[in-house]
Amino acid sequence: MTATTEPFYNDTKEDIRSRVDIAQVIGRYVKLKPAGQNLKGLCPFHKEKTPSFTVSPSKEVFHCFGCGKGGDVFTFLMEKEGLTFPETLERLADEVGVTIRPFKQPPGELKQDRVSKTDALKIHAIATQYFYDQMKNNQEAIGYLKSRKLSPETVKEFRLGYAPNGWSNLVNYAKSKNIAEDKLVACGLAVPSSEGSAPYDRFRNRIIFPIFDLTGRPIAFGGRSMDEEAKPKYLNSPETNLYRKNRILYGLHHARASIKEKGFVIFVEGYMDFLSLCQAGIKNVVATSGTALTEEHGQLIRRFTSKIVLVFDGDSAGSVAAERAVFTLAPQNLDMYVFILPEGEDPDTYVSKYGPDSFNKQSNEADDEVQFIINRAVKTYSPETAKGKSSIVEHIMPLIQSTTDTIIKAELIKRTAEKLDIKEHHIYAKIPRKKQRSAQPGKEPPVNAADHFIETEEGSFLHIIVKEPKLIETAQKHLSTETFSDPFIKKLFSLIIKTYKEDKSLKNIIDRTDNSDIKKAFSLMLIKEIPSDKHEEDLSHKVKRFLLRLNKKEMHENTKKIRNENNPDAKKKLLYEQKVHITQRGDLVNKW
Ligand code: UTP
Ligand code: MN
Repeated sequence: MTATTEPFYNDTKEDIRSRVDIAQVIGRYVKLKPAGQNLKGLCPFHKEKTPSFTVSPSKEVFHCFGCGKGGDVFTFLMEKEGLTFPETLERLADEVGVTIRPFKQPPGELKQDRVSKTDALKIHAIATQYFYDQMKNNQEAIGYLKSRKLSPETVKEFRLGYAPNGWSNLVNYAKSKNIAEDKLVACGLAVPSSEGSAPYDRFRNRIIFPIFDLTGRPIAFGGRSMDEEAKPKYLNSPETNLYRKNRILYGLHHARASIKEKGFVIFVEGYMDFLSLCQAGIKNVVATSGTALTEEHGQLIRRFTSKIVLVFDGDSAGSVAAERAVFTLAPQNLDMYVFILPEGEDPDTYVSKYGPDSFNKQSNEADDEVQFIINRAVKTYSPETAKGKSSIVEHIMPLIQSTTDTIIKAELIKRTAEKLDIKEHHIYAKIPRKKQRSAQPGKEPPVNAADHFIETEEGSFLHIIVKEPKLIETAQKHLSTETFSDPFIKKLFSLIIKTYKEDKSLKNIIDRTDNSDIKKAFSLMLIKEIPSDKHEEDLSHKVKRFLLRLNKKEMHENTKKIRNENNPDAKKKLLYEQKVHITQRGDLVNKW
């Protein structure tokens, strides 16, 4: 999982949260009615007729018992408006009149850091303008852009530019602007040369595509050679403090509004593909540019839409990449469609040949993920024979396994079964045991995976300590993450301990993670009432049971070890340890 939301925002965030009324902010989107200590309304994240969307003004969280979405006021705005965290912060800061202090850099990044974030942004802005101006004075560059059918408006809007031929054009220009060489190097715009001599320009004689962050500020560059033979065809900025290519989608700053409006996003591979589609009026497009799709890309796009059309070139590499993309994005539970272009085309050549209407029509008719994966498998295996069916199911298994949402998983299995004319439970039976979570043959999947954990022994334990954080200290004396068997519970527990240790409360726990499942889990625990009021007693019963269980497990493992040990001395030692261990643990349990 990605790191928590930048810790350097924490003070400001606290300040803002304490001034914002969550009910009032959410009230702008949802009609809320009082229900006990909480407020209820129709969930803005899924369609429903009876209100299960709950806001707790005192706990400063929301949670929907229907779709499971939950979090604090920041989460709400990020999800609803598709804003980044800093943008949400800025927006709320404005509203409540808090000034955002200049952010400290995260400590990990400071070390090799020769340029502050502010300076790096400035340098990128200056370089963008420089490349743009150079392009305007260079006939060859203008000719090239024309030959790629890019209009002057598109060129201007996306600040396409030109890096002149030579080793020190930008380096010298930067000098004239008092930008230190090492800063230019830290921005990836200059390359340090061998000892003694000065750094040189990274981009030389290339068309420049600035890469923007979500607010439209340039943070990196891609440079295309005008010579078809030159290698590499595209040269990109290295990763820097500003630019993490796994988390950036080219064109998203521009496409975000259109994605929200149309309700889906089109993924293409290249800068040129993005620009051509955009110029043809298809604006809900982003490009991965220079890297395979990652889970982080999926998380990023999830903030804007849950429906995605993946467009890949019509060669075998394209299909392989499309399949990989589907598997990579599966944990995000998106509605995925795959549009494979005709052989030899990429999105850029396709729109210029067949026009945007044809492109739109084809992407509307694109196969969904199941159909796509099955179709691919059917090319290799026969869907008529039992052996073939079995191979096809195995082929689609990575998709089934990495789909985390139980309802989506069940649907996937149902459709696969229908298409292959086999029984669903035969597919369930093929899911490798370890990964098989709650979906099981004959059993209805739980209505909501996030709701489900709270009913388990371990989950209900967490529920108590989240409701009564003062019990954390007692619990912590006897338990560690190792005590728990469920990996999700382990994650939740360690976040609880960490947050409590640092804040002495769990007030900000939702902000400490970017993982939406964890956010949901906490908003649920904060809002859902616990039927009993004997929390302390319940807790101690549970701790006792956990310890006994742990004891049993360790004993079992140790006994196995003793049995397999041939050396008599080592055996003795193990037996002795076992004795001491049991006594100590026994004492501990008895104290409870
Ligand atoms: P493609 O090879 O499909 O190129 O790479 P393209 O986008 O069609 O580009 P044109 O039309 O030939 O100009 C797709 C994307 O992969 C990245 C670039 O982001 C490119 O847009 N790429 C490709 C690189 O980063 N380096 C390369 O050498 C090639
Ligand atoms: Mn192309």
